[in-house]
Amino acid sequence: MKSAEIRKKFLEFFESKQHKIVPSAPMVVKDDPTLMFTNAGMNQFKDIFLGNKEAKAPRVADTQKCLRVSGKHNDLEEVGMDTYHHTMFEMLGNWSFGDYFKKEAIAWAWELLTDVYQLPKDRLYVTVFEGDAGDGLEADKEALDFWKEWIDEDRIILASKKDNFWEMGDQGPCGPCSEIHIDLRSEEEIAKEGGKGLVNEDHPQVVEIWNLVFIQFNRKADGSLESLPATHIDTGMGFERLCMAMQGKQSNYDTDVFQPLITSIAEKAGVKYGDDEKVDIALRVIADHSRAISFAIADGQLPSNNGAGYVIRRILRRAVRYGYTFLKFEKPFIKDLVALLAEQFAEVFPEAKAQQDFITKVVEEEENAFLKTLTTGIARLEAIQKDLKGDTISGKQVFELYDTFGFPVDLTALIARENGLSIDEKGFEQEMSAQKERSRAAQTSEAGDWISVHGGEEVTFVGYDELESSAQIVKYREVKEKKKTVYQVVLNRTPFYPEGGGQVGDTGYLEANGEKYSVVDTKKENDLIIHFLAKLPADLEATFKAVVSGKKRQLSANNHTATHLLQAALREVLGDHCAQKGSLVNDKLLRFDFSHFSKVTEEEIAQLEKLVNEKIRQNIPLEERRSIPIKEAMDAGATALFGEKYGENVRMITFDPNYSRELCGGTHVKATGEIGLFKITSESSVAAGVRRIEAVTADVAEAMVTKNEELIAQLNELLKNPKDIAKAVGQLLEERNKLTKQG
Ligand code: SER
Repeated sequence: MKSAEIRKKFLEFFESKQHKIVPSAPMVVKDDPTLMFTNAGMNQFKDIFLGNKEAKAPRVADTQKCLRVSGKHNDLEEVGMDTYHHTMFEMLGNWSFGDYFKKEAIAWAWELLTDVYQLPKDRLYVTVFEGDAGDGLEADKEALDFWKEWIDEDRIILASKKDNFWEMGDQGPCGPCSEIHIDLRSEEEIAKEGGKGLVNEDHPQVVEIWNLVFIQFNRKADGSLESLPATHIDTGMGFERLCMAMQGKQSNYDTDVFQPLITSIAEKAGVKYGDDEKVDIALRVIADHSRAISFAIADGQLPSNNGAGYVIRRILRRAVRYGYTFLKFEKPFIKDLVALLAEQFAEVFPEAKAQQDFITKVVEEEENAFLKTLTTGIARLEAIQKDLKGDTISGKQVFELYDTFGFPVDLTALIARENGLSIDEKGFEQEMSAQKERSRAAQTSEAGDWISVHGGEEVTFVGYDELESSAQIVKYREVKEKKKTVYQVVLNRTPFYPEGGGQVGDTGYLEANGEKYSVVDTKKENDLIIHFLAKLPADLEATFKAVVSGKKRQLSANNHTATHLLQAALREVLGDHCAQKGSLVNDKLLRFDFSHFSKVTEEEIAQLEKLVNEKIRQNIPLEERRSIPIKEAMDAGATALFGEKYGENVRMITFDPNYSRELCGGTHVKATGEIGLFKITSESSVAAGVRRIEAVTADVAEAMVTKNEELIAQLNELLKNPKDIAKAVGQLLEERNKLTKQG
C-alpha cells in the first residue's frame, strides 16, 4: 500500500467512527510561550483539555506535522544514526474530548491495525502503565482489562512512567498511556529470540507505532497532579513507522515516503544507498532534514540567529555538513530537493508547493552562507592543530567549533584523528552543559499555577467596539521573570487587544475602589487573553473598570490599516508573488516583511507611497465581517497567511473590495482618512528573498516634517557664518542618527 493510501485509510476509518477530520496545525507555534514547534498532534487541542475552550466536535482526527528538535521531546541527535527517528514526522491521531474513553480507543486501534491494515496480530505487543508510587498512581487496570479482550495477556507488558505516562511538557495535560509496538524482524530472528523482551529496548525493528494516551490529569507547577474535570483520548501514530510496517520494510527510509528523496540525493552524489554506513547516515540525515527545513519555512519560520529560527538554521547546517563531509557536496544541494518535496506533499500539505520558489531561494542562500562558514571553520581547525601543544584539542576549542561553525564533535574528532590527535570530549561536555545552564537561566519566566477567582465564566473580547468595559477576574497567576514578578490576569470581559497578527498588545489600567492597576501588556496564550499587571489588585473579587489607552490604540490601528494598504499596493506595484513573511505594528511605526527577490527601487517606493496615500485620501470605509466561514472568505479573494492557524470561522477586513481584503484579527480605523499620511522610511533585506519595508503614518510623519523644518532653519542659521559649516554638518548628522534610532 502506498503511503498516500495508508494515510487516507486512517482518516476514512475514523470518519466512519463519527470523527471530524481537521487540518494539521502549522508546525511552527506562535501563541504558546511553552512551545516553539508542534511536537505532538494534541498541541492544537491543549486548551480544550485544560477546559479553556470548548471543543467544536467531540471527536476529531487528523495527520499533524510535528517537529521534535527542542524542549522535552528532542530527537535531533539520533536522526540519521538510526532508521526510525525523525525531526519532522507526521502523526496520525484521533481524539475524544470528554466523549469516548479507553474502551473505544483500544478497540478501534486494534480494529484499524489488524482488520483494515491487516497487520499480523502475532507481531504486535501492547504496553500498559504499571503505576507510580511518586505520583501516587496505581497500575492502569482498566486499560489492561480492555486490552485482554483483544490480545493474549502474554503479549501485554506493564511498563513504567518513563514510557507509559505521557506529558507534553513540564506542565499541562497528561495521563497514563498504552503503546502498540510491532516486531518487524525476520522469522528466523524471531525463532531465535521472542520480541517481548525487545519492546522499549531501542531495537530498530521492534518499534512503537501508536501511542494511546488517556488524558486524566493536569501537571501543576509544583509537580503535583490534579484530576481534570473530564477525561479525554489523545492518540498519536507515527506515520512513517506505520508505512515501514505496512510496506514490509526494515527502515522508515526504505518506504516510499523517503526513497524518492534518497535516490535523488544519491544520484547527485554518485553513491548508492546501502553500500557504506557513513554515506547512508548522511543520506538519511539530508532526506529527513530537508523535509523539516522546507516545511518550517513554508509555515513562516525563516532560519535566523535566535529562537525558533536558530533551531531551523542548525538543522539545515547539520544537513549541509553531512553532505559536505560524506557526499562531497561543495555547492548548495538541499535547495534542489524542495521541488521534489513540494510535489510529494502537494495533496496533503500544499503550503510547500504554493511557496516552492521562495523556499528554494531561502534554502540556497542559507546553504551558500554555511558552506562558506564551513570552509572558515576547517581553516580555524587547521590553525588550532598547528598551534597545539600536546596532542589533545581542548573542550573549549571543540565547543567553539561546534557553537560558531556548526561542527559536531564527531567531525572535529574525525579530522583530529586523521592528524594523529584526539579531542577532550569530557571538557566539551562540560562546555555544553554550561551553555545549557546559561540558556536555562536566560529563559524568560517561571509560571505558577492558575488560581481561580470567578471561575468558569465565558471570556468575551469586546475590544473591536469598546475601549472600556466592566470586568471581573476569572483567574490569575504569578510569573517570576528574571528580575521581577508580574501577574497574569484573565478577565471575563475585556476591551484589551492581545498582541497578535503583528500588532502590539494594548496597555491601560483596571480600576476598582478608587485604585488603578496598570495593564502593562496584553498577550494571547493559545486562546486565553492574558493581561500583565505589575501589581495584584487588593480586592480580587471586585468588579473593575477596564480601560484601554486610546491614543496608543488609535495610532496602532492607523499603522495596522496602513499595513493592509501597503500589502495591496505591493501586489499592484511589484506583483502577486509578494506574500507576507512577518509584520510589526505599533503606535510608532509599521514594519512589513514580504517575499520579493530584488531590491525595491526608489521609483517603486515612490509608486507605493503614492498609491497608499491615494487610498488614504479616498477615505475608504472599513468593511468588517467578524465571523464568516473560511471558505466564503477565501472565495471572496481574501489574502491569508501561510503558517497561520485559522479556525472554521474567520474575520475578514476589507478596504474597497477591489483593493484590499485580508483575514485579520487586528484593530483598524473606521475609514482610511484617519491615517492622514503614509511615508516609507526604509527598505532593506532581511533574508534571502525577503524584503522589509518600514513606514510611518501621520502622527510620526508630521513630527518628522516639523523636525526637518527645525533642522533646516538651524542649518541656515549656522551657514551664515561659513566657519561653522563643519560644526553644522556634525550637528545635523547627530540629529539624523538620533531620528534613525527612534525609527
Ligand atoms: N500525545 C501522544 C504522543 O505524542 C499521543 O498523541 O505520543
